[in-house]
Amino acid sequence: ALDQIEGAKKKAAYRAIEEHFDSSFRYVGIGSGSTIIYGVEAIKEHLEKHPSPSGQHTFFVPTGYQSRKAIESAGLMPIAFDSLPGDVLLDVAFDGADEVDDELNCIKGGGACLFQEKLVATRAKKFVCIADYRKKQERLVTKWPSIPIEVAPIAQGSVLRELIALGSVKPLLREHSLAKTGPVQTDQGFYIIDAPFKPLLTEADVAAGKDGSGKDGVWDVSTLAERIKMIGGVLEVGLFFGKNGYQTQAEGLQGGQKPV
Ligand code: A5P
Repeated sequence: ALDQIEGAKKKAAYRAIEEHFDSSFRYVGIGSGSTIIYGVEAIKEHLEKHPSPSGQHTFFVPTGYQSRKAIESAGLMPIAFDSLPGDVLLDVAFDGADEVDDELNCIKGGGACLFQEKLVATRAKKFVCIADYRKKQERLVTKWPSIPIEVAPIAQGSVLRELIALGSVKPLLREHSLAKTGPVQTDQGFYIIDAPFKPLLTEADVAAGKDGSGKDGVWDVSTLAERIKMIGGVLEVGLFFGKNGYQTQAEGLQGGQKPV
């Protein structure tokens, strides 16, 4: 089964790169997690086979420590988000996901990266999410049991209370398992809260008249994401959806790629 999963991750990654990467790109975002590693491998092979016609290098924008290491060990050139010139947009950003729904909304943050991932994705002309068959669910928060939220350590208690007020049953501060004790820390030195919610409604559900306003604890993706983001002490929420800005910055954008 492990071979099957790794095979599916690799297949999805190679297909995503084949369809959405080009050697002439100047700036490309690289996400975090285990799937994107295959994406980096595929990019490296692509660049070996098809060097950039102009001889100009592609710069890769990491979304965290692990992501930067992956870029460097593939011999690719990293560039820090804040070193990007002016208001340049990335040609594309590739990343993985924990769940992807029918509208290509995603849950991300299973590996404690999400803030930098969203920052980079929002600055890209196109966001391509590499997801194998396990990740696809009709609605978010179906298989992946909760939504990862990055919070300031001093506000974790109040954020937990506000999440409960929004209808999350037993949101939990993410802790290290046995080997290490204490809360998991992000690349920003923040904490992660995993907040369970009832499966989220899609825009299509709302258009069909379903109530996603949080009454009875049922939310739609964008309303819940906005409400969580408004809580003091929340840096970012691991819900990625069309309104994160991908659509406002350039044409032809999509919230993700259909899982393969
Ligand atoms: C990291 O926090 C995430 O957003 C990852 O992109 C996501 O968890 C997918 O990871 P895998 O590719 O390891 O499943």
